[in-house]
Amino acid sequence: MKDAYRIKKVKIPLSELKAGELLPFTLLNPQDQVLLSRGQIITSEFVEKLKEDGYSSVLAEILEEDEGLVAKEDISPEIKKKTLENMQEILEDLSRGETPSIVPLEQNVSQMAKEVKAHEELVIPLIQLKKHDDLTFTHSLNVAVISLFIAKFLGLKDEELIHLGLGALLHDLGKLLIPPEILNKPSNLSEKDYEIIQKHTIFAKNILDEKTRLPERVKEIPLQHHERIDGSGYILRLTKEETSVLSRITAVADVYEALTSDRPYRKALPIPEVIEYLMGSAGHKLDDEVVTTFIRHLSPYQVGDLIKLSTGEEAMVSKINPVLPFRPVIRIKKQDEQGNVYFSEEIDLSYSLTLTIIGEIDMKSQIDLERTIL
Ligand SMILES: [Fe+2]
Repeated sequence: MKDAYRIKKVKIPLSELKAGELLPFTLLNPQDQVLLSRGQIITSEFVEKLKEDGYSSVLAEILEEDEGLVAKEDISPEIKKKTLENMQEILEDLSRGETPSIVPLEQNVSQMAKEVKAHEELVIPLIQLKKHDDLTFTHSLNVAVISLFIAKFLGLKDEELIHLGLGALLHDLGKLLIPPEILNKPSNLSEKDYEIIQKHTIFAKNILDEKTRLPERVKEIPLQHHERIDGSGYILRLTKEETSVLSRITAVADVYEALTSDRPYRKALPIPEVIEYLMGSAGHKLDDEVVTTFIRHLSPYQVGDLIKLSTGEEAMVSKINPVLPFRPVIRIKKQDEQGNVYFSEEIDLSYSLTLTIIGEIDMKSQIDLERTIL
């Protein structure tokens, strides 16, 4: 017989319940009655009904074995928000020709570095980062967070982490001086446009030289983030030995972030393809050690992700295996006779080697699909 589960009860504010998402735990009312079982899809009607009944929070019953189902943030949303606000302010000051204060941003980076270092996971929770895509400067913020994680796994010192974080946040600052109609061109860039865009590296260095007293190490990052170790990058055509490790880390994070995001001229590439690209570039375009360290700690899935299996079935990721992040623990989506959706017992893909993941399911289309079943 199975040991009794230990149960934890956690208060969840109503605002955390998002319609269309899968419930990773059972929800209870104060009388311990089940409001909605885990594995069900949260409907807007359900949330509305709770509001009508006067609930501001509900109790989540979390089985000990399910603790991993509560997805962990990479870094706290508050620090992200503050960092984005401070970056906005710096860019506004610079656009007005004023001298910005970098101190608040330095404090943000120091906090971010602390959180990255304290993160207990052995994997880099990259999917989480994507949730903030709607905000301005998100690309730079994501590049900074990814860079800090890589630096932590490379064993860089605290001071280097701060310099790296600052440089990564400011790496595309020079785009301020590039006409937006060139930056957002929906089709292929002409040679001339490309030449203009390449200048954002040197523009950033010039702005920072003129308007800040940041250390050279920070300013080198915007200048060098498009250099490639074989000298094929831009703008100075530097080789590995001529660039700083902080710039080479930012280059890897930048490539990853750019390829996994939608752009006006192309859709985001699937993560496995991006990893292929990074591995193919390691050793001649991108720093081998940086790429290897990054990929070794990368988790392509996040708890709660919906995936498609080689059997044609759909499943939900329920745990990440830090040793084999590409083979997570999953629960297969099933339907009972009444048509209610539920999830099977956990299946550890590191043991079930015949079962493979063939793709991720787009959450948006998944939600629409689910709504038609009602
Ligand atoms: Fe750039």
